[in-house]
Amino acid sequence: MKITFDDARNRKSVRTFEDKAISPEIKEKLISFIKGNNKGPFGNKIRFELIDLTGAGAEELKQLASYGNIRGPKYFMAGAVKKTPEAVLDYGYLMEGNILAAQSLGIGTVWVGGTFSRAGFMEKLGAGPDEFVPAVVPAGYAAKVRDISDTGTRLFVGADTRKPWKDIFFDGSNDKHLDEAAAGKYKLPLESLRLSPSASNKQPWRIIKEGEKFHLFLERTPGYRSEEKADMQLMDTGIAMCNFDIAAKEEGLRGEWKAGGNFAGKEGWEHIATRGE
Ligand SMILES: Cc1cc2nc3c(=O)[nH]c(=O)nc-3n(C[C@H](O)[C@H](O)[C@H](O)COP(=O)(O)O)c2cc1C
Repeated sequence: MKITFDDARNRKSVRTFEDKAISPEIKEKLISFIKGNNKGPFGNKIRFELIDLTGAGAEELKQLASYGNIRGPKYFMAGAVKKTPEAVLDYGYLMEGNILAAQSLGIGTVWVGGTFSRAGFMEKLGAGPDEFVPAVVPAGYAAKVRDISDTGTRLFVGADTRKPWKDIFFDGSNDKHLDEAAAGKYKLPLESLRLSPSASNKQPWRIIKEGEKFHLFLERTPGYRSEEKADMQLMDTGIAMCNFDIAAKEEGLRGEWKAGGNFAGKEGWEHIATRGE
């Protein structure tokens, strides 16, 4: 399956689903993609499932698929991982690939990392005691008209806007902005990263370009981290890496993300990974 920058650009969260089964052919393609998309850049192997609740009883639907602002989800993409930071990064990276694959097949999705039945999904996935489910992704055909709670969520988090280049991309060091001209052939991958979804649309990723290398940092939103949830903003950076890679691949730009290294960003920024050859 070919996933492109256009898929990243066209994706928007879908929270109002049509009451319609995914066609068998599309479902087959999606399952085959998510089963093969199982090795993250930080070494974790993740088994993703497409959970189909079209035949589920009222009790199961109530337990797994009832959300204040998401209407009528009948399918979920989900997986379980070890409780390590690298596993959360890999989960973000790989699941975003699944989301873009769904997008290219005409299937709408939304990341859900806030409130969902962790225990219910753990059971569905047959997860082990040392594993957890960082987030789940409802999937299906988008309804023609958005529910008011969907529109409300979008307005509340400002879902249709993204930070401008100058706030998140830097050239050589944190005091010099990177503009589109200076990005050269990396313009598309950076734009793809900028359009990434993030929890509450906080867009906590920052990039410093150093020649052909890209240092990715996390600037946390104060007070956002919560003990009950997975580390959402760390997951956001995994998601961003995937969006960069999709466009880089399309542009024929080789390279991969590596954790570690000690490139200094800015006070308060956490260095997450660097992409280079
Ligand atoms: C890690 C993560 C967790 C999220 N959790 C939720 C959630 O619990 N509920 C929800 O309605 N949206 C959730 N979202 C969706 C974001 O609000 C959405 O991606 C963002 O507002 C940008 O809008 P867009 O996806 O339409 O571009 C989450 C997104 C990410 C990346």
